Amino acid sequence: MAHRSGRHFLQIPGPSNVPDRILRAIDNPTMDHRGPDFADLGLECLDGIKRVFKTESPVVIYPASGTGAWEAALVNTLSPGDRVLMFETGQFATLWNELATRIGLVPEFIEGDWRGGADAAAIEARLKEDAGHEIKAVCVVHNETSTGAVTNVPAVRAALDAAGHPALLMVDTISSLASIDYRHDEWGVDVTVSGSQKGLMLPPGLSFNALSAKALKVNETAGLARAYWDWKPMIANNETGYFPYTPATNLLYGLKEALAMLFEEGLENVFARHDRYAEATRRAVQAWGLEILCNNPDEYSSVLTAVMVPDGHDADHVRKVILDNFDMSLGTGLGKVKGKIFRIGHLGDFNELTLVGTLGGVEMGLGIAGVPHQKGGVQRAMDYLAGAS
Ligand SMILES: Cc1ncc(COP(=O)(O)O)c(C=O)c1O
Repeated sequence: MAHRSGRHFLQIPGPSNVPDRILRAIDNPTMDHRGPDFADLGLECLDGIKRVFKTESPVVIYPASGTGAWEAALVNTLSPGDRVLMFETGQFATLWNELATRIGLVPEFIEGDWRGGADAAAIEARLKEDAGHEIKAVCVVHNETSTGAVTNVPAVRAALDAAGHPALLMVDTISSLASIDYRHDEWGVDVTVSGSQKGLMLPPGLSFNALSAKALKVNETAGLARAYWDWKPMIANNETGYFPYTPATNLLYGLKEALAMLFEEGLENVFARHDRYAEATRRAVQAWGLEILCNNPDEYSSVLTAVMVPDGHDADHVRKVILDNFDMSLGTGLGKVKGKIFRIGHLGDFNELTLVGTLGGVEMGLGIAGVPHQKGGVQRAMDYLAGAS
């Protein structure tokens, strides 16, 4: 591949750009993960990550992508043939649903149109019908990365409570953690699943399960087979800062640095920054005269914006034009929306000028690809950013 000058713009909704401070931290010699120095690193990461999930309960860290943490959440709490209730927010909810089937669960999938978050009222209605409490878990995706729509997790919690239903509540925060406000304990979530490569600004390779006392209790009797994903030896070893098998040591160096960066900035400021970039992006899209896939403003994502291209145009062609001409990667349309949308990631290590550059690349690309639009989107975003700063 020929050298391209300047920095590549990685504006997909994760993996996100890894800041230099984290790259430098990862670039240290790997240490003995059973030696005396490791415990300090392990304890610092295990303790710090709880603050990000806003929980007092244990958080398990796996050397795995997010899919592993999805599987871990289910195999640690459920038994073969158990029913789980899921909501079709988009491609990631669909993949979690498929995974559940493949490991021997019986998921029920409430149909969705991929243009909003999970419908708490529909979940409540289904749970009320389930008088025998056959459904053992409700699983939702907080930020649906394939569509740019956020599920109101407290509303889903309220749906379980209103139905008086004892099912576990599991939430995928793979693309929201450390970008959009999330409160594991306060919102009464039993298992929160997450990953390293989005808001945490790390490379792919770590994933997480945040637990609750109820999740730990059902873990005692959950019948699905598990070995690598088993919480028990993890939690036992983690008490002294160690892991039952070889952890991803260098990614933990990176995690320690990422946590320091997030706490230096302050989580609330991190969330506000994401909100600002998302609002600026939406103003640009509106100025271009294009449609945002999420059609409920209360559920707009602060992590990404999925932009619909008009009928007769191919969103992947727009992405290709932008990559070829301006060395910027945008997210492709996944599953049902392939070719119909492109996704602008505005998360993680990101600032106003990164966003202006990103939107500039999109606006130029729309022109070259021949997508009908009005000019002035970047200007609209700049006006907003200048006023909001
Ligand atoms: C919301 C969500 N869930 C699950 C996954 C799957 O995670 P991974 O690809 O790290 O296995 C992703 C990946 O982008 C995601 O965005």
